[in-house]
Amino acid sequence: NNIACLFDLDGVLVDTAVYHYQAWKALANSLGFDFTKAQNEQLKGVNRMRSLQLILEWGGVQKTAEEQEALATVKNDNYVGMISKMTAAEVLPGSVELLEALRAAGIKIALGSASKNSGLILERTNLAHLFDAIVDGNHVTTSKPDPEVFIKGAELLDTDPSRCIVFEDAQAGVQAAIAGKMKVVGIGEPENLTGADVVVKDLSAITVEEIKALIN
Ligand code: G6P
Ligand code: MG
Repeated sequence: NNIACLFDLDGVLVDTAVYHYQAWKALANSLGFDFTKAQNEQLKGVNRMRSLQLILEWGGVQKTAEEQEALATVKNDNYVGMISKMTAAEVLPGSVELLEALRAAGIKIALGSASKNSGLILERTNLAHLFDAIVDGNHVTTSKPDPEVFIKGAELLDTDPSRCIVFEDAQAGVQAAIAGKMKVVGIGEPENLTGADVVVKDLSAITVEEIKALIN
């Protein structure tokens, strides 16, 4: 009768969404164009190469596969430079408190992130010890909205998807949770989180009891 919680990382537990945006914007600007905040919403939860391809489409720029690899490396080097200086102060409000309360209630917790940099971020922000399982961009072959990352997390926690609750700040992530037949708590603004079972501004605004009540 166990339940499990699956947490996205960027924009849910830590404020890295702003660094992704800065690094992609710098790359686009270096290619001679820009993209909007609304377009940036579409990048959230989407893996690195797919994000680059969307940005190049928006700029009307064509690059070979080899050039795309090089551009993704430029963006990632810039981004890693930013996150390497992160501290626990950049953990979003309520994150540690909620993760600790879930653990105290015996509820298992996994990370479900598209990022290949999750290890560095969890280490820098001192969150790693709070997880029973980690699934990130190094363990999956598809990008959200495909549910693979969350299905793998549910498997590692030995919990049926119908008894899993996903926490997501991205529309692609909400879609992935729904495709995986899981419940989903949206983090942020309701207009960016269509289909979420509930939307809260951050993790300080939801309790273990409210989370449990989402199942059955
Ligand atoms: C998260 C972010 C995306 C990012 C993706 C891959 O899902 O929301 O903006 O593109 O991770 O991150 P990475 O660190 O591997 O480039
Ligand atoms: Mg996110």
